[in-house]
Amino acid sequence: MKHSKSEKQIAGEKATDYIKDGMVVGLGTGSTVYYTIKRLGTLVKKGLKIEAVSTSSATTKLAKSLGIPLVSANDVSRIDVTIDGADEIDPRFYAIKGGGGALLYEKIVATISRKVICVVDSTKLTNQIGRFPLPVEVVPFAYKHVLKKLAKNGLEATLRLNEDKKPYLTDEKNMILDLRLGRIESPTELADWLNGIPGIVEHGLFIDLINEVMVGEKNLCKILKR
Ligand code: A5P
Repeated sequence: MKHSKSEKQIAGEKATDYIKDGMVVGLGTGSTVYYTIKRLGTLVKKGLKIEAVSTSSATTKLAKSLGIPLVSANDVSRIDVTIDGADEIDPRFYAIKGGGGALLYEKIVATISRKVICVVDSTKLTNQIGRFPLPVEVVPFAYKHVLKKLAKNGLEATLRLNEDKKPYLTDEKNMILDLRLGRIESPTELADWLNGIPGIVEHGLFIDLINEVMVGEKNLCKILKR
């Protein structure tokens, strides 16, 4: 029996339509962009000439296994297009990212990209972001002080742990605090405030970074533009 494709697969694969010969492509992280990377691997085998910048060790491993040529962010002067997932995204294309812990490299790569395409299944669309816990990357040296500062301001956060109950560490060997907010009234204000706290390296609020959203909806891919 033939299984129909999931919404993630529909959106993830469709996004490769944007990738042309000669491009430098940013590769996001997660289970939706997984399908983008798999399809890209097939296209590269068929002769597509690209270079890619990876946003995590997981994506690097996958891209390498598929023969996609990788370069480091420091070796390129621009990235033409980046394709990445999101945990939640609203109609202004404000998003929460970092469920997979790759928010720091993802944000850097998005910032240096000419175009960022977000690939999601329909469950990720929301009118107001905040239901998904906001990942905040902190240096281990200061994490308890950051937790205290957040608590003082009424923000409940938990240190992300691995299955073995040890702290989860990012590719940069930082920790992640997940902030349970419920809803975020002003994402820009919250982003600015978090940016000002010493010890916080990055947070998962992506504001004015995403240009286009490709949503898998049932059997179709809907394209949302700003
Ligand atoms: C990785 O850190 C995240 O930002 C992912 O892009 C996000 O969590 C979406 O992942 P999925 O496509 O697996 O839902």
